[in-house]
Amino acid sequence: MSVMTKIWEKAKKNKKVIVLPEGSEARTINAAGIIKKEGLSEPLLVGKKDMILTSAEKLNVDLSDIRIIEPVESEYYENYISGFYKLRKAKGVTFESARETIKDEIYFATMMVKSGDADGMVSGAIHSTGDLLRPALQIIKTLPGISIVSSSFIMELPYKDFGEDGVLLFADCAINPNPSAEELASIAIATAGTAKSLCSMEPRIAMLSFSTKGSAKHELVDKVTEATKIVMEKAPEVLVDGELQLDAALIKKIGEMKAPGSSVAGKANVLIFPDLQAGNIGYKLVQRLAKAEAIGPVSQGFAKPVNDLSRGCSVTDIVNVVAITAVQSVL
Ligand code: ACO
Repeated sequence: MSVMTKIWEKAKKNKKVIVLPEGSEARTINAAGIIKKEGLSEPLLVGKKDMILTSAEKLNVDLSDIRIIEPVESEYYENYISGFYKLRKAKGVTFESARETIKDEIYFATMMVKSGDADGMVSGAIHSTGDLLRPALQIIKTLPGISIVSSSFIMELPYKDFGEDGVLLFADCAINPNPSAEELASIAIATAGTAKSLCSMEPRIAMLSFSTKGSAKHELVDKVTEATKIVMEKAPEVLVDGELQLDAALIKKIGEMKAPGSSVAGKANVLIFPDLQAGNIGYKLVQRLAKAEAIGPVSQGFAKPVNDLSRGCSVTDIVNVVAITAVQSVL
């Protein structure tokens, strides 16, 4: 059974309310129809009601059982203005500027999740990663004890030689441009959690570098060794090793040669990249050249689930990310 099939099954057991703030966008409307029909969650569309209904009619999607909310017309608007003002007044937000900000569908939907009027949010089909994440970082914040929000991709290869029957997690490929050693450790620990909770995998984490076990000396390598030590201290139950080159992490013979005795080398199923340039390029290489399915980015560390889409996403991608968000909201 594929990872996504398992996630769909989990989502169907707990129908959560997932808000889609890009409500008038065609792929989002199509996805909402499928989500409702498959029983993956209760989708809730935010946007201009007449525009959404006109588009749905053209697309032949039945929205009769799906809630549509217009921010300014809604019963929530005034409450969200005062809620947002209270949260952000120390950062210079005035009551009047809050009134303008909450007209924005993404800020409005983020306040829905913060207030418990929705269980999670999915957006990004027509907005950039920053447009979606900034409101969530400002309003929803991190889980207690978690210092940063990060993300992982579930990479499903068309063959089973690597990872866990061809499934690996890659992180961070979407959020943190240049994490410190402490932040890199946080990313690794959060990704271990995602591997367990979403993929039912026992994580074996490789902290990637261009060096294996001191083969090169450089401050960039030092960051990765330092991060590995921090993971070992903070999460002693997690199998982690580093610094490792990619071949030492994945290929048994090379792992045994370059990192003898390692519990991870040659059999890693979680790859932690040293920064966002490496992570973002790395996942796209595997997606495009190896034809892996890249599921995500899956956000990790938010106090409530919020997930981003790629602007090139398909209807299926939206449906899948909504299923992931619904599962995250019961974890
Ligand atoms: N975790 C937790 N909090 C954070 C994080 C984080 N990773 N990053 C920023 N914050 C907090 C800040 O402390 C700040 O809090 P405050 O306002 O309460 O003090 C708030 O979030 C907003 O911070 P800003 O500085 O305004 O936001 P920033 O400009 O740092 O933007 C963002 C954050 C959008 C995530 C930025 O780091 C970014 O653009 N990352 C790259 C995204 C990207 O382009 N990815 C590649 C494309 S995605 C793809 O290909 C799949």
